[in-house]
Amino acid sequence: MLKIAVIGGGSSYTPELVEGLIRYHDTFPVGELCLVDIAEGEEKLRVIGELARRMVEKSGLPIKVVATLDRREAIRGADFVSTQIRVGGLDARSRDEKIPLAHGLIGQETTGAGGFAKALRTIPVILDICKEMEELAPEAFLINFTNPAGIVTEAVSKYSSIRSVGLCNLPIGTKMQIAELYGRAPEELFIEMAGINHLNWTTRVVLDGKDCTADFLGRLSDSGGFTMKNIPDLAWDADFIRSLGALPCAYHRYYYMKSEMLAELLESYKEAGATRADDVKAVEAELFELYRQPDLAHKPAQLEQRGGAYYSEAAVQLMKSIYNDAGDIQIVNVRNGGIIACLPDDAAIETNCVIKADGPHPIALASPLPPQIRGLLQVVKAYEELTVEAAVRGSREAALQALTIHPLVGDERAARTVLAEILEQNKAYLPAF
Ligand code: NAD
Ligand code: G6P
Ligand code: MN
Ligand code: MN
Repeated sequence: MLKIAVIGGGSSYTPELVEGLIRYHDTFPVGELCLVDIAEGEEKLRVIGELARRMVEKSGLPIKVVATLDRREAIRGADFVSTQIRVGGLDARSRDEKIPLAHGLIGQETTGAGGFAKALRTIPVILDICKEMEELAPEAFLINFTNPAGIVTEAVSKYSSIRSVGLCNLPIGTKMQIAELYGRAPEELFIEMAGINHLNWTTRVVLDGKDCTADFLGRLSDSGGFTMKNIPDLAWDADFIRSLGALPCAYHRYYYMKSEMLAELLESYKEAGATRADDVKAVEAELFELYRQPDLAHKPAQLEQRGGAYYSEAAVQLMKSIYNDAGDIQIVNVRNGGIIACLPDDAAIETNCVIKADGPHPIALASPLPPQIRGLLQVVKAYEELTVEAAVRGSREAALQALTIHPLVGDERAARTVLAEILEQNKAYLPAF
């Protein structure tokens, strides 16, 4: 029987995943869905577990829903373990966003110094989960959503024998938006994405077998460029896009429009003392009020206010293709293995992969990445490599170098100040330091 364990099951995104498992049950016949959380998340887990049971009951499908705090029992015998945890909760995210802002730096959940702090808290917990998987479900796939998803994937691939795939909703969302621009279905389109999580470029758009990248980049500036619910949607400049020769992802705005994005973040922080974590707390409270209604048995539309739209689509498509040895192409985070020649073989990259029963196989790029992409990519990957080392070994040296070279910090003094605050404010979550 096909068993899925969802760690961080109390997440407000879980109903979206349940919806996907129900929709694709004919080709991905899950028999047991085991939602697991920690003591602090017990109440959220209870509410989500009951909603999941109502959704399954309404579908009439034979899926057993279990909600538990016993992680080992959840993992035991699972075929897929999916992780969507937030170590330290939204309060920790709020601190991650505010510490850099207080020093005139971009404060963001997954990018820059904020994402760095999240990585330090998260990697040790995920590696513990991997150890339990090595013992209790060594053949299972780890499907990791937990951010920073690319850095976590690299840590798992370097420090565990578990087969793991890192997943983000950005690639599937981008594909849907490009398809919409052309009035087509996403399946009719091939897009080549290359880079790393939250720093990937769409380097090629192919429609009906014809490369229409130049046409697409021309249309893009009229559309204002694509974004996501959690990122201010400043428009891309047409000349900039043409000279870049690729579509940047939504998160590239933090790099390419650094001053303007910082001003946006500082404005709402100064006016309301709020960052995205505070908005998300409000959305989450609203969602859980709905989830508690005993007659609700579907995913409410309000979930679309979160940045993770289509996340379940990406997750279920991936697990379904592994299960069925489908051989289709999906954009996920995997070990590089030479596909992006300018990055180390053991780096995690986010790119097109053929999905087989033994997991994703990244496919060759049509051409090597041009210098304007390669330069930024290499420096942020080096930051990620150092961040993994910092988290795994509790190394302040690696941590300082990681922050110093990150383009959103880029200053030794700022790095030292921010690092000291991050370590101080996260003490409870950083036993290795
Ligand atoms: P959340 O705050 O609701 O946390 C999810 C659950 O994790 C909570 O119920 C919490 O109790 C639990 N948790 C916290 N620490 C844990 C631990 N040590 N072990 C097990 N469970 C633990 O968070 P959320 O907004 O649902 O997001 C969850 C994660 O998914 C975050 O890391 C977020 O960044 C990530 N995310 C990723 C993508 C993507 O594109 N990859 C999309 C959306 C969200
Ligand atoms: C996007 C990203 C996720 C990120 C999320 C934040 O979907 O791909 O990795 O976690 O946005 O959304 P939120 O609603 O929590 O700000
Ligand atoms: Mn089984
Ligand atoms: Mn993401």
